[in-house]
Amino acid sequence: MPNSVNQNLKPITTKINADGNIEIGGCDLTKLADKYGTPLYVIDEETLRGICKDYKQAFSGYEKVKFLYASKALCSVGTSVIISQEGFGFDVVSAGEIYTVYKSGTDMKKVLFNGNNKSADEILLALELGVGRFSVDNFFELSLLDELAKSKNVVADILLRITPGIECHTHEYIQTGHLDSKFGFDLTQIDEAMDLILNNYTNLKLHGLHAHIGSQIFETKVYNDEIDILVKELSRLNSLYNLELDEINIGGGLGVKYTQNDNPPSTYEIADVIISSLNKAVEKYQIKPPTIILEPGRSIISTSGVTLYTIGSSKQVPHGTKYVSVDGGMADNARPAMYQAEYDALIANKPLEKDLQNVTIAGRFCESGDILIKSINLPNPEEGDILCVFNTGAYNYSMASNYNRVEKSAMVLVNNSQSDIIINRETLDDLVSHDIIPDRLK
Ligand code: LLP
Repeated sequence: MPNSVNQNLKPITTKINADGNIEIGGCDLTKLADKYGTPLYVIDEETLRGICKDYKQAFSGYEKVKFLYASKALCSVGTSVIISQEGFGFDVVSAGEIYTVYKSGTDMKKVLFNGNNKSADEILLALELGVGRFSVDNFFELSLLDELAKSKNVVADILLRITPGIECHTHEYIQTGHLDSKFGFDLTQIDEAMDLILNNYTNLKLHGLHAHIGSQIFETKVYNDEIDILVKELSRLNSLYNLELDEINIGGGLGVKYTQNDNPPSTYEIADVIISSLNKAVEKYQIKPPTIILEPGRSIISTSGVTLYTIGSSKQVPHGTKYVSVDGGMADNARPAMYQAEYDALIANKPLEKDLQNVTIAGRFCESGDILIKSINLPNPEEGDILCVFNTGAYNYSMASNYNRVEKSAMVLVNNSQSDIIINRETLDDLVSHDIIPDRLK
């Protein structure tokens, strides 16, 4: 089976150029660092489009498939334009994500609004902008959405988010489909929800079911189990209530290669499991083949992104660790501190030097836990070197903070030797722009 982009540790255009520096998208990383400053998020357009194509190609054998990019992995207007051009819709979870996707010019019919506690204001914005689907998470939301849709004189098209009761082997905080989860209806609550949808809530139209079992998934069998549960339930609802529900959203989750030890399956392997499980389940439970919806986030954007840092101070603990500090850390990449996530890196201005030292890459934030990479072999990291950390496209910028009152980093898009800013670096004035001194303190 062919490989897919998510199985690469680095963007697919990564090369060493004639000057001996790393280049991505035809752009020398040291020049990018010079021009735009560091820390700098870099997104390689060819890699991003490449994984979108892998998904489309992998699922080309199943006619009724829709792809929604999970914006939570990285949401910006520029990247949304590219993903939208590739034919993907979007999974959004907040007014901010809805508005960003809207600003990218996406057809809002291809947007699904997810989340376990959508506010009335967020729901109203989604209704006003014509968001195509709501994945309803709980009884409170069913009633709220119906009431708000009524007030706008529209019918909201919905899926029901269910908890399929599947445990997958990933970090506890990024597992979502197990039974005691904050997300979705328990299978035993679905009939009560159906009764309300069919008999009380006149402004809701149900199309199908939704589940998401976790993130950074490497095993394919969990998708087989998930599809069996969803198709079985869809078939039961169709016969019991005489309906023609025909949509199954199986969420996201496909993993990526953060380090050499990670071996995620390809989109082609995942597609093979998903399509064959679907065909099996359709026959077993006697329903028409449903539309299948996928919501990948990490696997779409992670590999296309790297972060550039400038190396500053170093400290050799006598007979101990050598700490090499960079000008970013947990505020631009919270994942090592939050999930013990591991990353790989190279020094962009001397990737090929052979005399390696084992060092710890420390962030600049005032917390001992702000360690980006615990142990890595690098060629004599010195002040002024540019460190390139790979696979930072997903859940880095989207989880960034202003901890220590540090400006959020810029993001640049590279392609064909061209670089364009898609997110400006925050300024000191941006940082204080929302602060107010009450009159009585003046
Ligand atoms: N759909 C739903 C309903 C989700 O909750 C998620 C992720 C996705 C799709 C996309 O999953 P992906 O394809 O990206 O695995 N911050 C964590 C990841 C949290 C994922 C939350 N939900 C991290 O940095 O690893």
